[in-house]
Amino acid sequence: TPYMRVPPSLLKEKTGRRGKDAWMAVNDKVYNITPYAKFHPGGVPELMRGAGRDGTRLFGEIHPWVNYETMLASCLVGLLVEEPEAGS
Ligand code: HEM
Repeated sequence: TPYMRVPPSLLKEKTGRRGKDAWMAVNDKVYNITPYAKFHPGGVPELMRGAGRDGTRLFGEIHPWVNYETMLASCLVGLLVEEPEAGS
């Protein structure tokens, strides 16, 4: 696949703190939300509640109608995958 495979342990590092980019998963797609943050109509702190994790539920609770796939197309990093088994 052309996409990077992102396990939860890697996603978890991308909190937006300590100079790192902020990544967020929505419906199994992982986005770099850093360049988008300043445009988020709900504000940066609200958006960052989903940083470094799977924000699918938060996103859906607040604005399920928002077309994030189009808005964040250029911010797509890869696909959220299961953590590889140790030793594999
Ligand atoms: C509002 C986009 C993630 C919280 C909005 C709006 C857009 C948007 C377009 C305006 C919606 C409208 O006026 O109809 C996005 C995108 C996200 C994202 C592309 C994914 C990366 C989140 C997350 C949260 C959040 C994770 C927090 C848990 C809010 C809030 C508002 C908002 C509180 C304001 C709602 C209001 O004005 O009543 N967002 N959002 N968003 N968003 Fe997000």
